[in-house]
Amino acid sequence: MSEAELVVDGVSKYFGGFCALDAVSFEIRRGEALGLVGPNGSGKTTLLNVICGLYPPTKGQIFFRGFRIDGHKPHLIARAGINRTFQLAKPFKSLTVRENIDLALSHRKGDGASLDEILNLTNLTGMVGLEAGNLNAGQQKRLDLARAISLEPSVLFIDELGAGLNPVELNELAEILRKMQYGGRAIVVVEHLMGFLEKVVDHVLVLNAGREIFRGELRNALNDQDVKRVFLGDSIGH
Ligand SMILES: Nc1ncnc2c1ncn2[C@@H]1O[C@H](COP(=O)(O)OP(=O)(O)O)[C@@H](O)[C@H]1O
Ligand SMILES: [Mg+2]
Repeated sequence: MSEAELVVDGVSKYFGGFCALDAVSFEIRRGEALGLVGPNGSGKTTLLNVICGLYPPTKGQIFFRGFRIDGHKPHLIARAGINRTFQLAKPFKSLTVRENIDLALSHRKGDGASLDEILNLTNLTGMVGLEAGNLNAGQQKRLDLARAISLEPSVLFIDELGAGLNPVELNELAEILRKMQYGGRAIVVVEHLMGFLEKVVDHVLVLNAGREIFRGELRNALNDQDVKRVFLGDSIGH
C-alpha cells in the first residue's frame, strides 16, 4: 500500500477553554475520497483550518508526504500541495472567470493544468468572460473549485460546496469531483447532503462535538447507532 499523502495524528484545537477538536486522527492516500460529516459546530471547518495552517493545533501533529506541516503558514501549505475551498466562497466578484483563475494560476510554482484544461474540467468554458458576481450559484461553486485546483493540490478539501445547489447542479459537481480524483488527487469532502456524498466518497469520518464517533465505509455509517443518534432530526439521508 502506498504511503499516506496526509497524516493527521491526534489533533486537538482549543479556542480559549473550549475544545473544538479533540484528538482527531485520519490518513488519506492518493486517489482517495473521504467524506467529513457531522452536525453544525462539530469541528469540520476547524479541522480544515488547522490542516491548512490558518491556526496551529493545540495538540497533535500533521504530516504531508512525511514532512511535518502543522504550524506552517497557509500559503506554504497551499504551495506544498494542500488546498481548500471555503464554506463561503470568496471569488473576486468584479473580475471575470478567466481573470479569477489566472490570478490563482499566478500563485502556482510548477507546471500543471492550463487555463483551458481547468475551464473544461469545471464546465466553465462558456463563461470565461463573465464577471464572477454575475454567475449563478452552481457556476460560482465551480469557479471556487477551479481556483482551488489551479495550485495543483494533491490533497483538496471541499467545505460544504453543495449547500444551496439544485439536484442537477449537485450531479454536475459530483462528476467534476470524481474527475479530480482520476489523476491521483485525494479529496476530503465536508458535506451534509448524503445523496451527494454517496456519489463522491466511499469512506467517511464522522465528528460530533469535535470528536470522532465513526470512521469507515459510508454505507456502514448510515447503520451506525451513534451516527444515527447524532443525526436524528438533522439533514442526514435527505
Ligand atoms: N476562530 C474561532 N474562535 C472561537 N471559536 C471557534 C472558532 N472557529 C470555530 N469555533 C467554534 O468551534 C466549533 C466548531 O466550529 P466549526 O469547525 O465551524 O464547525 P462545523 O464546520 O462542523 O459546523 C463551534 O462551536 C464554533 O463556534
Ligand atoms: Mg463548517
